[in-house]
Amino acid sequence: MKWLQEKINEVFQESVSRLDEGGEVVEEIRQKFMAFDWDWPAADPRPLPAWDYRADVLTNAPAGLLSELAHEVDGHWETVDWYRNPNYIHDESLGRFRTWYGYNLYVGSFGMIKKRDIAVGMLLISPDCLYPAHNHLAAEIYVPISGRAEWWTEESDWQIQEPGTPIYHRPWLKHGTRTLDEPLLALFGWLGDTSKHATISR
Ligand SMILES: [Fe+2]
Repeated sequence: MKWLQEKINEVFQESVSRLDEGGEVVEEIRQKFMAFDWDWPAADPRPLPAWDYRADVLTNAPAGLLSELAHEVDGHWETVDWYRNPNYIHDESLGRFRTWYGYNLYVGSFGMIKKRDIAVGMLLISPDCLYPAHNHLAAEIYVPISGRAEWWTEESDWQIQEPGTPIYHRPWLKHGTRTLDEPLLALFGWLGDTSKHATISR
């Protein structure tokens, strides 16, 4: 558990130095995240369809820190619960994405460790999925760990982002993600009220 926490810490640290906007948010998430001991009784998660891409995630992660983190995530894969946003499960307009994505929450209002003011977890999206424009109250950092995907905000066009590139979304900024031919595994952190789920923008 300790190494998973430490690798996430390193990725957050690198992100702070690379961000033009949101660095102080990531630093606050990082400090809160490192301020408590990580431990939880092993979960018995219900497998998600997106788990089919677990091996590809490991294969595609760039060597070095990102691959090390991907392996730590894999090592703890079945000790955490995996979810799909309850706002999305019955939304048929989401197409393939609705079924073929999932996330875990190491920390957060609904996480393995219950904290309301931050959330930290991993988002997994299968290839060829569109996570359309959505937003939420909490400020957010994403760092893709494995998989090149396209990212969008209401202030910037779709852009391919390489693994390791931090992506910051301030509160309520609309954003979206589109996977290409690889699955995406991305570290995410939230700062703010993490009890409010994201909603799709209509
Ligand atoms: Fe988000």
